[in-house]
Amino acid sequence: MQRVLAYLNRNKKQFLDDLCEYLRFPSVSAQPQHRGDLDRCATWLERHCRAIGLQATLCPTSGNPVLLATTRQGRTSRKPHYLVYGHYDVQPADPFELWKTPPFEPRIQGRSLFARGSSDNKGQHFTHLKAVEAYLKTGTDLPCDVTFLIEGEEEVGSESLGPFLSRNRARLKGEGVVVSDNGMPGKNQPSLTYALRGVVAMEVILHGPNRDLHSGIYGGAVDNPAMVLCQLLARLRDARGHICIPGFYKHVRPLKAFERRQLSKGRRKDADLARFLGVPRLFGEAGFNQVEQRTARPTLEINGLTSGYQGDGSKTIVPSWARAKLTCRIVPDQEPRQIIEVVQRHLKKICPPTVKLTFEPGHAGSPYLVAPDGARAMAAMRAMKTAFGRTPTLKREGGSIPIVVDFKRRLGMDTLLLGLALPDDNPHSPNEKFDLDCFETGMVMSAHLWNELGAL
Ligand code: BES
Ligand code: MN
Repeated sequence: MQRVLAYLNRNKKQFLDDLCEYLRFPSVSAQPQHRGDLDRCATWLERHCRAIGLQATLCPTSGNPVLLATTRQGRTSRKPHYLVYGHYDVQPADPFELWKTPPFEPRIQGRSLFARGSSDNKGQHFTHLKAVEAYLKTGTDLPCDVTFLIEGEEEVGSESLGPFLSRNRARLKGEGVVVSDNGMPGKNQPSLTYALRGVVAMEVILHGPNRDLHSGIYGGAVDNPAMVLCQLLARLRDARGHICIPGFYKHVRPLKAFERRQLSKGRRKDADLARFLGVPRLFGEAGFNQVEQRTARPTLEINGLTSGYQGDGSKTIVPSWARAKLTCRIVPDQEPRQIIEVVQRHLKKICPPTVKLTFEPGHAGSPYLVAPDGARAMAAMRAMKTAFGRTPTLKREGGSIPIVVDFKRRLGMDTLLLGLALPDDNPHSPNEKFDLDCFETGMVMSAHLWNELGAL
């Protein structure tokens, strides 16, 4: 182990350079113009994995290629086998003008590495690659077989990956999955995440007149789809933050008393969070604290709202249509299909006969919850404690990693969620960064993890 840790320490600078190279690829999965960048990024990663000493292959899918890289020599190995999951695709960098340094030219300032994808997710899964590299390059026996599965469609719903898991069951199957694609409360506060929210996306379109109309000639005698949309959406949530859709909460599993205790520990003050986010005051479902609201309660959000004239000046029209993008975050035991069903049914029921409503379901992922007291969870907590020097807490995560549910359903494996992102890392926002202490300590944590898991 000493040799592994010494290798990690000695090569810090090199690892950072490697990560910066990785971050220079604008591997934005949502934008078709970056298709080539995704391929180039995946090919770079494949070469990098080979250089580390892994057996790497890029596997074509109906979408972006999946990288598989393993330490496993044939199928006869007796070692426990673990999958490490991550994604090499990133969110769009827009709006570019809000970045202090260009998103695909990594910059180091103090202990922060700024670049799109630095935290979500290239920097985080890189810690595991480098820890395994340290074992391989120092000729230290790695107590586990490790297979890396790094995909390129996480930010657009991981559509090709579910079927890929089923097709490749034999080489992927193992004791469990390790994922660092989420948050930790602070640099000195490691945490094991035992639940993720799921997500369902939907669009509602209201069709009014068959063209934009002069609002002076016709306004007053036809309904206005933008107005109706606002009225409909406004009825979906009350002043206490409760979602007013029959059946919406039906399958929500109540929080256990021990969870409510855990989730209220060490939480920051409401006023501090409000200041950090630039809002005059927090708002959330009555009866739950800020942490519960963000991680353990379901929500309905309007993500986008479009109708009528958006250009300079004014234009006197009754718009022909109005459109809203909605998502719900869902929690155990809500099911995406049931949620889509109740939202759709309710909207159709309350929609007036003066407009026509169409409803388009989008991507969907189930919530995830695993008992945090299993032997592997304990092993992971020991690795975190050794690396960070602090006893890890348990937490739920508000964000979603839909494929984690597929690991369970298709491969029968639970996932250890060992987040390394800090609350101010700005994932999906301008000026995304990854903390170099999280990067370095993350590598050390991963090195210990394989020891702990191998000893079970
Ligand atoms: N890394 C995030 C998931 C995440 C976000 C974990 C915040 C912890 C905190 C992941 O890349 C992501 O953004 N997921 C999407 C999933 C969606 C596109 C299906 C999300 O949560 O919005
Ligand atoms: Mn993301």
